[in-house]
Amino acid sequence: MKKSKPVSRSGRFTQGPGEDVARFTESISFDWRLWRYDILGSLAHATMLRQAGLLSQAEAEGIIRTLDAISQEIAAGHFTWKPDLEDVHMNIEAELTRREPAGAKLHTGRSRNDQVALDMRLWLRDEIDALILEIRNLQSAMVELGARHSRTPLPGYTHLQRAQPVFFAHHLLAYVEMLERDAGRLRDAWKRVNICPLGSGALAGSTLPLDREFVARYLHFIDGKKRPLVSQNSMDAVSDRDFIVEFASASALLAVHLSRLAEDLILWAGSEFNFIRIADAYTTGSSLMPQKKNPDIAELARGKTGRVVGNLVSLLVLLKGLPMTYNRDLQEDKEPLFDTADTVRATVQIVAAMLRHTSVNEAVCRAAASDPALLATDLADYLVTRGLPFRQAHHAVGAAVALAEQKGKKLNELTLAEYQSIEPLFDAGVHALFDLDQAMARRNLTGAPGDREVQRQLRRWQKFLARDEAKSKP
Ligand code: ARG
Repeated sequence: MKKSKPVSRSGRFTQGPGEDVARFTESISFDWRLWRYDILGSLAHATMLRQAGLLSQAEAEGIIRTLDAISQEIAAGHFTWKPDLEDVHMNIEAELTRREPAGAKLHTGRSRNDQVALDMRLWLRDEIDALILEIRNLQSAMVELGARHSRTPLPGYTHLQRAQPVFFAHHLLAYVEMLERDAGRLRDAWKRVNICPLGSGALAGSTLPLDREFVARYLHFIDGKKRPLVSQNSMDAVSDRDFIVEFASASALLAVHLSRLAEDLILWAGSEFNFIRIADAYTTGSSLMPQKKNPDIAELARGKTGRVVGNLVSLLVLLKGLPMTYNRDLQEDKEPLFDTADTVRATVQIVAAMLRHTSVNEAVCRAAASDPALLATDLADYLVTRGLPFRQAHHAVGAAVALAEQKGKKLNELTLAEYQSIEPLFDAGVHALFDLDQAMARRNLTGAPGDREVQRQLRRWQKFLARDEAKSKP
């Protein structure tokens, strides 16, 4: 076993932790990425301490100037992170204090417990904003591809059996709707991320005259009326990780949606379907079989979903047995959170790029959708309009399907006499029902896959996404 070499420590401790302990407990290897937010939080806190009379003007200026310098060094990649200083908070504070003695006053009225809660909230707020923009981009890619195929029919499936014809755009717009709900869930989670925990101390606030509202305003934790949003219970504020679970949950569902889309694309790209062609750059070859072209991106999008769902479960299990308030276990929230955020953002990005490099084999889709059996339901509806109860109409069309099968014909090849032998209400109009273009024109309920409605939905999304894009421009 490696011998413990103590690292320096002070105060109540006579001995520092050994190297093995430091290695086991450090979080700098992954929480360094919070640095921008850690410094931002410290700037807010130092400015507030100055206003509260807890720092002199010179001390506050010294701290702020030095934090700015450290910030630039980190951004330039010139800062050395030290694992024996445990985490991002200690690393930055130690370096600050080494250069600027007043740095020792920065932690006044603050604990790493409210500090880390703050950093995570600041980080996640930006992360959610960025993810929503990427979701918009993916929705746009789907709407663009859909608009190019707003009249390309393809079979819609239930039980993975051909069911009824839809337009290609309609199928994609189903995912646009799912993604919109994902964006909504993320926006909703954002509201609960947007609450300032600083001033909660280790768990019980502070006896010092801190101005929590000032800090909240400084860090833009404000509501629509610009009122500061601060946490209302110091114990809750340092132990709450709901906001992370909510993000992980919304992200897991987003990943599940991407995975379902990926599955559709994988099927469609296979030669059994052959509905789409993914550009070479977004596929890979086989090391052994020269003819292969594999949809690896879609497969990985599907595969990574397992990890994202796992991260959500990890976080829930992490929290379930924790007594109030902060426990070191909470340090374990970061890796699943970062992994989820990185994974879903990268997946949304690459799937959007792939869709922009995917073409649709129109003729194949149309041929597959042209099987007259897909319009059997239209036949039943037609008998209903002639007064037959739907159950009987369904039965009659079922009998027609069986008769066609028995005669080795397609459903539209039965003669009128054959139809009428099953149900006298069939009339000369029956064969016209099999015209696919007319069949698509008949589906015009709100949300239906018909011509007019799909055009309307496409226009709705185009308008919505264009407006949203304009709003998000600085
Ligand atoms: N690295 C810790 C974390 O990520 C920071 C908070 C440490 N607080 C403490 N009391 N040890 O949770």
